[in-house]
Amino acid sequence: MMNIVFCNGKGGAGKTTLSILLGCALVDAGRRVGLVDLDPQQTASRWIKATQPGLEIAAAGQTYDATIVDTPPRLESAALHQGLRNADRVILISSPSPADLWTSQDTVGVIRQHYAGAKAAVLFNSVQRNTTLARELPGMGARLGLPVLSRQVGRRQSYQHAMLLGWKALDASAREEILQVALEIITF
Ligand SMILES: Nc1ncnc2c1ncn2[C@@H]1O[C@H](COP(=O)(O)OP(=O)(O)OP(=O)(O)O)[C@@H](O)[C@H]1O
Ligand SMILES: [Mg+2]
Repeated sequence: MMNIVFCNGKGGAGKTTLSILLGCALVDAGRRVGLVDLDPQQTASRWIKATQPGLEIAAAGQTYDATIVDTPPRLESAALHQGLRNADRVILISSPSPADLWTSQDTVGVIRQHYAGAKAAVLFNSVQRNTTLARELPGMGARLGLPVLSRQVGRRQSYQHAMLLGWKALDASAREEILQVALEIITF
């Protein structure tokens, strides 16, 4: 079982959205996936209950191919620290904004404090294709001192609609984009 933690001390980077969508992609690919919701706001749990997207809320005693851990946007959260200690993979979700990257430096510090493994990486979310910013992202990300995943998640309305409609809100190209990111995460 692979335990994948999504984090960023900044709110709104897309942790919950990508926890669910990347989990759905792995379910679609035939894996059994459990979602662990460490955010007291319980957005991911409510989302799963509302849309029944195929991945389940992880239950004690069950075995999964992967568990995906959504975390609160609070770097001092004890639940986040515990989640990092149990992680096999840590994915720092970042918006493509330079300002957010600077604040992500604090998140990298907390990852280093609580996660001893080598499988931590940055994933850019909400990227607008063919923009100057999109091209600059790999270099900017490298300055955080973590590897940057080569795949990025684009900005798409369907990712917002997924919160209402679940995985079926995504067309084939969006599903493929999410699947490729999921595969990179489990193999990097
Ligand atoms: N790739 C994307 N394209 C379009 N909208 C997106 C994308 N990723 C996230 N969003 C939207 O951005 C908003 C914030 O996303 P989300 O709730 O997943 O962030 P979060 O990091 O979990 O926030 P918090 O830290 O408050 O828990 C949501 O409205 C979501 O639909
Ligand atoms: Mg969230």
